[in-house]
Amino acid sequence: MNEQIVILDFGSQYTQVIARRIRECKVYSTILRYDTPAAKIDALAPSGLILSGGPASVYAKGAPLPDAGIFELGIPVLGICYGVQLFGQFLGGKVEPGQKREYGKGTLTVRDAACALFRGLPAALQVWNSHGDRLTKLPAGFAPVATTDNSTYAAIEDRKRKFFGLQFHPEVVHTPRGKEILANFVHAICGCGGNWTMHNYVEQAVAEIRAQVGGERVILGLSGGVDSSVAAALIHKAIGGQLTAIFVNNGLLRAREAEVVREVFGRHFRIKLQYEDATKPFLSKLRRVTDPERKRKIIGRTFIEVFDAATKRAGKAKFLAQGTLYPDVIESVPIAGNPAALIKSHHNVGGLPKKMKFQLVEPLKCLFKDEVRLLGKELGLPDEIVHRQPFPGPGLAVRILGEVTPKRLDILRRADAIVVEEMKASGLYYKIWQSFAVLLPVRSVGVMGDERTYDFTIAIRAVESQDGMTADWVKLPYDLLEKLANRIINEVKGVNRCVFDITSKPPGTIEWE
Ligand code: XMP
Repeated sequence: MNEQIVILDFGSQYTQVIARRIRECKVYSTILRYDTPAAKIDALAPSGLILSGGPASVYAKGAPLPDAGIFELGIPVLGICYGVQLFGQFLGGKVEPGQKREYGKGTLTVRDAACALFRGLPAALQVWNSHGDRLTKLPAGFAPVATTDNSTYAAIEDRKRKFFGLQFHPEVVHTPRGKEILANFVHAICGCGGNWTMHNYVEQAVAEIRAQVGGERVILGLSGGVDSSVAAALIHKAIGGQLTAIFVNNGLLRAREAEVVREVFGRHFRIKLQYEDATKPFLSKLRRVTDPERKRKIIGRTFIEVFDAATKRAGKAKFLAQGTLYPDVIESVPIAGNPAALIKSHHNVGGLPKKMKFQLVEPLKCLFKDEVRLLGKELGLPDEIVHRQPFPGPGLAVRILGEVTPKRLDILRRADAIVVEEMKASGLYYKIWQSFAVLLPVRSVGVMGDERTYDFTIAIRAVESQDGMTADWVKLPYDLLEKLANRIINEVKGVNRCVFDITSKPPGTIEWE
């Protein structure tokens, strides 16, 4: 079993960030709900425990409280922010509501250089605070280690029990050396060596897939996106010819997309690839449909029909593989005052009906997206797939306003290919969240040569985002915009005008429909 650190989630918006920082130290981390019984945690034999922050006050009605047994497990505990108040609450200290919320940047002064948490770090550190309550009396056994202007107990330690409390957030980028503090916790204090790498993970995952699947067959819906592609390569490594990957061409794909998938998975990896050209049913059902919601529903339904029929053609299989990621399986802690915990993706990903009687194989379900990309590299997938920008399930249909027709798809494909090509040439393509073309089927007047034109408009969209929930438009350089507009208007027949979308999300969405 991997060495691991358990993180108890008390509703902090940063819980997943903590988990990722720990994994960046090459130590596996698991997020569990705040009230997970101590015995269950003990059964995992973690090397240490981290109590996340949280928006509540330990005194508030319904405040999330842990099983008191977590302090008896005999393993090091690091409490962050709200986690510090929990020490106070459970181990006999005193917590009082703060006069004012301490929020934002501060300077931490380390007073006790012997504290292992700050090993190798200077005495003055920039830290990021966000807390209301404060500890006013230390629990027995604890001593102060570091202070800020507002807090005499900014960092505390019970050296004997290896309990540590940090009033600030070491996991966020605004605490520039926080990663070293967390590294000290997992390596120096918890004694973890650090063997969690994607190189090692491949071996472990291959063994697990083989054990789960045995001699049975597995079907996987390959979209060409990062997750299903990495899942396909990994499962193929484990069970070879027992895997059939079904790739549905819904006719709404970008230029060369189907070819790349066939090239990479069929010819290079030699995965058994079942290519389903479903362009006709999709486009005929979309004929004359203009309402965005209806478009999405039709595409979702048609996909299920096509995929269902394709699985039957693929022959009997017991398992269905999915590229589910860790953030999709972490049980969120819905705590009042923390809207971050309640926002969930509104998209229809992975929505296959229950009536498809498969058992699931989900080999990525303990990985974060950046780990999946590393795993893809490890498995030999090309950058074109591993560092792909997200592409919506309904494809170009949500980037053509109004009716989707073969002619409009053709125009958009050509324009989009130019955007992708120039964004890659500029080096920006892999640095931002998404960049693409949108077709606006409104005609405007132009002149080309001696001729008057009356053609469509292409909007260029480029956004920066962490998770797709919010986004900022990217200030593309003028000369790049100029090149894009020139090329699109000159090379794509049917387009005589280009505009640049300068809407952030909110209030706009990333896709136009
Ligand atoms: P919006 O347009 O809602 O998009 O701002 C947010 C992110 O989600 C992607 N997106 C989708 N992904 N199925 C998906 O798998 C969909 O139906 C879908 N719609 C939007 C979008 O590309 C962006 O990254």
